[in-house]
Amino acid sequence: MTKIIQLFVVALLALGCSSNQQSKVQTTPCSSLETPETEAKIEALLAQMTLKEKAGQMLNIGLPALLTGNYWTYRDSAVFDTARFHKLIVDFAVGSIHNTPSFPATKEEWYRIIKTIQDSAMTKTRLKIPVLYGIDNIHGANYVNGSVMFPHQIAIAATWNSQLAEKVGEITSYESRAASLVWNFNPNADVAMNPLWGRIAESFGEDPYLISEMTNAYIKGSQQKGLQDAASTAVCIKHFVGYGAGRNGKDRANALIPENSLRQYFLPPFENAIQNGAMGVMISSNAVNGIPCHINKYYITDILKGEMGFKGVVISDFSDIDFLVGAHLSAKDKREATKMTINAGLDLIMNPFDADIVELIVDLVENGEIPISRIDDAVSRVLRLKFYLNLFKVPYTDPKNYTEFASQSHVDANYKTASEAITLLKNKNNILPLSSAPKVLITGYSANSMNILNGAWSRSFLGRDTIYNDPNKLTILEAIKKQMGANNVEFVEGTNYLEDINTDKAVAKAKKADYIIVCVGEIPATEKPSDINELELPKAQQDLIKKLSNTKKPIVLVMVQGRPRIIKEIEPLVDAIVLAYLPGDEGGRAVSDVLFGNINPSGKLPYTYPKYSGNYLTYYHKKADIRDANWGYDGFYTQFEFGFGLSYTNFEYSNLRLSADTLSNSEELKISIDVKNSGDREGKEIVQVYLKDKVATVSPDSKKLVRFSKIDLLPGELKTVDFILNSKDLQSIGMDNQWIIEEGEFEVQVGGNSEELKKEFLYLFIK
Ligand code: BGC
Repeated sequence: MTKIIQLFVVALLALGCSSNQQSKVQTTPCSSLETPETEAKIEALLAQMTLKEKAGQMLNIGLPALLTGNYWTYRDSAVFDTARFHKLIVDFAVGSIHNTPSFPATKEEWYRIIKTIQDSAMTKTRLKIPVLYGIDNIHGANYVNGSVMFPHQIAIAATWNSQLAEKVGEITSYESRAASLVWNFNPNADVAMNPLWGRIAESFGEDPYLISEMTNAYIKGSQQKGLQDAASTAVCIKHFVGYGAGRNGKDRANALIPENSLRQYFLPPFENAIQNGAMGVMISSNAVNGIPCHINKYYITDILKGEMGFKGVVISDFSDIDFLVGAHLSAKDKREATKMTINAGLDLIMNPFDADIVELIVDLVENGEIPISRIDDAVSRVLRLKFYLNLFKVPYTDPKNYTEFASQSHVDANYKTASEAITLLKNKNNILPLSSAPKVLITGYSANSMNILNGAWSRSFLGRDTIYNDPNKLTILEAIKKQMGANNVEFVEGTNYLEDINTDKAVAKAKKADYIIVCVGEIPATEKPSDINELELPKAQQDLIKKLSNTKKPIVLVMVQGRPRIIKEIEPLVDAIVLAYLPGDEGGRAVSDVLFGNINPSGKLPYTYPKYSGNYLTYYHKKADIRDANWGYDGFYTQFEFGFGLSYTNFEYSNLRLSADTLSNSEELKISIDVKNSGDREGKEIVQVYLKDKVATVSPDSKKLVRFSKIDLLPGELKTVDFILNSKDLQSIGMDNQWIIEEGEFEVQVGGNSEELKKEFLYLFIK
C-alpha cells in the first residue's frame, strides 16, 4: 500500500502564522453577545462603584462561609448564619460564590439557597448586582441530588464521538440550571501528559486535537442556545495551564514546559475553546518552570487576554492565594500574593473561607500597588459575564420548569455515552461476548460499587459516601445478575483497593465456575488524595488475578479506573480486558451489556497505555526518545496504543488516496479511505488520520492526530470516508516559537489506531 513519491530536497521555507485553528466543531462565539449596549451598562456601573464594591466583585467565596457550623459538618439542610450572610452578601457585596453546602442539595434546595442569596444581593445592596454562582458539575450535574451522573471526561474522550460530548454538555447544563447553577467549572482542557496524574479521569486525555474537539463539543452543548437561555450554563475551562504535565505526576506539581511545547500542545485546546465561546478560564494551581501560573503575567495577560483575545473572567483555583504563600513560597504573605496575582491578570479570586481579600485589594490600590485600571478590567469582566448570562433579569430559575430533569431521555444519553466509551483491549479466541448462560464468579474491588463507577465529584468531593447513591442504579455485579439470573452468579469480594480480603475464597469458588470476571479499579479520588507513587495496579488486586489464573479458568478482566494502571504481569494471564474508565451511574449496565454482547464495544483509548511505569511517553514523541539500548529506534513500549480498541466485528481499511501528492500551502487536501465491516455484526469504527512530518528543523513528532470520524457499518458494508485537511494541519511550532509551515514531505496515515495505519506520502511546497 505504501507508495513513495520521489522527492527532491528543496530549500526550507518558513511562514509565520498567528494561531492554530484546526477544530471542526464550531459553536456560537460569545462575541455575538458583545454589544455596545452591554459595554455601556458595564461602564455605567463601574462609574458608580466604590473601590470596596469593585473589590467585592473580585471575590469568589465558598458557600460554607455563609452557613452555620463549620465547613465539614452540614448534612441535611443549608442554614444561613445571619451575621456571616449579612457581612458577605450585603456589606461586602461579594461578586461570586462557589461550592456546595457539604451535602448534595436537591434542585429545590439549591433554588432556595440561590434565591436567598440573589434576593438579598439584588435588593439589599447599593448597586443590586446579582451574584455569579460557580460549581464543579463535571460529570453531569453531580452536585445536584438526583441528576444524571455521566461518565467522566476521559470516558467521553474514549467514545471519540463529539456528538455525545455535546449532548453531555447540553444535559449537564439543563440539570444545573434546574438548580439555578449558571456557571460550570468545566470542561477540563488540560493535556494529560503524565499517566501518574490523578486527574486524568477529568481530562480528555493526551492528544491536543481530540481534547479540542471534545472541549468544543461540550461547550457547544452547554451554551448552544446562547448564554441568555435558561437551559444554558457558561463554561469555565480549566486549568490554565500545564496541570496534566507535573514533573512527578503529583497534584499541583511543577511542570517543565518549554515555550515551543506550550504552544504546540497545551495552548491550542484553550485557544479553540475561547474562540468557541468560553467565557471563563480557571488558572492552574501548579507552577510551570517554577513560576506559579497564578502570578505568570506572560501567560495570563499577554497570552490569554492578549494573543487569544479572551474577554471573559479569569478565576483562580481554590485557595490559590494561600497556595502562593504556603506551597509555592513565591509570596511572603497573603497581601503580596494578592498583589502579584491581580497584577498578573487575575479577575476573580476563589478565596473560600473569608473576605479578607477585599480589604487587601482596597489597601493595595490605595497604596498604588495595583493600578485601578487593572481593577476596572477585572470587574468589567465579571460584570460582562453576569450580563451575558442575563442574571440581572433572571437571577434564578424555578426548578418546576425543568421537567426533563433526570428524564428517561437523559438516562438514555448517559447509558449511550457509557456504552460507546467502554474499550475492549483484549479478546483472546473471541471469548467475549459471553453468549451462553454459564456459571460465573465475579470478584474484585470494583465489582459491586457504585462509588467506584462514579469516581470523585459524585454528590461529594471524593465521591466516597455510599448514602447518596441512587438505589435504582446497578453495580457491575447487580447488572450481571440481572442479565444472567442471580443463581448463575457467585460473588466474592476478593480484595479492597490495597488489601486482600478473601482471595482464597475467590479461588475456591472459581474452581466451580465456567468463567471468572475480575473487576479491578481505583479508589474514588481527585486532587491530593489521588496522588500515587507507582503506576502499577495495586499489588493485592494483581495477586488476586495471579491466584485465579492457577485455576486455568477463562478470566475476563474489567478495569474501572481513570489512569492507565500498569498491568504487564497480569495481562498475559487473562483472556479478555474491558476498560470501563469511570463510566458513571449507567456504567454497571453498560459493562454487563458489553460482556454479554448487547453492545458491540466501540471505545478507543484517548491515551497511550504504557507497559512500564518507568518508560511512558505520549504517542507523539521525538524519534530520539525511543532510541533503545540496542541502538535501534524501537523503545516505545506500550501495553496498548493510543487510539486502540477492539470490536466484536472486524474492519478492513483499503484504498487510501489523496487528492494530490503535492500540495501548496494555500490548497486543501482531500483524503479518502474505504472501510469495510468484514465481520458478521454491526459495529462502529473510529477512523483516525495522522500526519507525520518527515523532516523539520525542530525535531518532528512521531505523528499527530489531525482528524477522526466515528462511523457505523452493517455486516459486509463498505463506506468511503473523506477528510479535508488544510495547511494549518501541517503547521508546527518552529525555532522562534511561532507556528510555521515548512516545505517537505509528510506522511498521511489513516487507520483504526495510532499504530496500524495505511500510509501515503504528500509533498508540501510553499507558494
Ligand atoms: C480544583 C478545581 C475546582 C475548584 C473548585 C479546585 O481545588 O482544582 O478543579 O474547579 O477546586 O471546586
